[in-house]
Amino acid sequence: MKAIPTTSVIRKPDEAALEAAADLLRAGQLVAFPTETVYGLGADATSGEAVARIYAAKDRPRFNPLIAHVATPTEAEDLAIFDERAKALAHAFWPGPLTLVLPKAPDCPVSDLATAGLDTIAVRVPDHDLARILITLAGRPIAAPSANRSGHVSPTTAAHVAADLRDRVAMIVDGGPTTAGLESTIVDLTDRTPKLLRAGALPADMIEAVLGAPLIRHTVSAHPTAPGQLASHYAPRCHIRLNATEPEPGEAFVRFGPTPHRADFALSVDGDLLAAAARLYGLLRALDDKGWQRAAFMPIPAHGLGEAINDRLARAAAPR
Ligand code: TXA
Ligand code: MG
Repeated sequence: MKAIPTTSVIRKPDEAALEAAADLLRAGQLVAFPTETVYGLGADATSGEAVARIYAAKDRPRFNPLIAHVATPTEAEDLAIFDERAKALAHAFWPGPLTLVLPKAPDCPVSDLATAGLDTIAVRVPDHDLARILITLAGRPIAAPSANRSGHVSPTTAAHVAADLRDRVAMIVDGGPTTAGLESTIVDLTDRTPKLLRAGALPADMIEAVLGAPLIRHTVSAHPTAPGQLASHYAPRCHIRLNATEPEPGEAFVRFGPTPHRADFALSVDGDLLAAAARLYGLLRALDDKGWQRAAFMPIPAHGLGEAINDRLARAAAPR
C-alpha cells in the first residue's frame, strides 16, 4: 500500500513557496513568516476581513493595534506622516527591529481594524530578506503580530509557530531560527515628547543618541482595561445601547443577523463574526458622521471574534 503523502503548512522558502505565500496573502489568508525579531502572523493590512482572521487565529480577546510591515522606508511614507525625528530614526535603523508609532497618513490604505480605529499607526521595515521579499511580492503592507496564541510566548522558529497555529494558518514560511529572538523596540513620535512604548531588540540608548533627547518610559498596556486607557482610542459621540432586540424611536438600529425590524446599519446581515469585525470601526465612525445621537446594537455572540467585538462595543457604550 502506498503511503499517503503528508502535506505540511511549513514550507522551505524557495521561490515557488514565496510566490504561493504572496498569493495567499493577496487572497486574504494568513501566512506566518520570519523577521529578524520573532515570527509574524501576517495578513493583508488593507483588508479588514484578512486582519480579522489574525485576531480569530490568535484567540485575542481584544482588538489591539497591529504593526504594519513594509519592505522599504519609502513605502512606510505612504502609511504614516514622518517628521524630522522619524526620518532620522528610519534612516539610522531601518531595516531593523524598530517600530515607529506615527500619525496615520491621510490616504493610508491600512484598514481601521489593523490600527484598532486609532489615528496613529505602528510601522516597521524588518531586517529579514524573506520578510521583505514576501511583502514586495504581496504588493501591500502586511499586518503582523507575533505568531503565537494570545498569552503564549513569541515564536522564534517555524516549529514554535506550528505548535500554536498549525491548523489556523495557510502557510508557515520556514526561515530557520530568528536572530534577535526579542520583539522590536516601539517608539511613539505622535507628540513632542518621544516615548518608549516597548523595550525590545534595539537598545533605547542607540535611539536616544540619534534623537539627541531622552525617551520617556511610557509603557502603554497592550490590554487596556478601562475605556480611553489606550490614549487616543476612538470614542464615538453617539450613545450606544447593547444587546438590543428592537429599536427605540430615534435610535439607529444596527443588525447582526436576521431581524424583523428595520435596520439602519448592519455589522453583518447573515451573522458572520469575521465580516462584523472587519466593519466595526467604520460603522462606529459612520454613526457619528451621519449625525446619529443614539444607536442600538443587536446581540453579538460571545464566542470566537465575538469576544473582541463585544469588548470594543462595551467600551464604546461605557459612560464617559
Ligand atoms: O518584533 C515585532 O515587533 C513583531 C514582529 C512580527 O514584527 N511583532 C510584534 O507585534 O511584536 P505585536 O502585535 O505582538 O506587538 C505590537 C505592539 C502591541 O503591543 C501594540 O499595542 C503596539 O505594538 N501598537 C501597535 N500599533 C500601535 C499604535 N498605533 N499605538 C500604540 N501602540 C501600538
Ligand atoms: Mg506579541
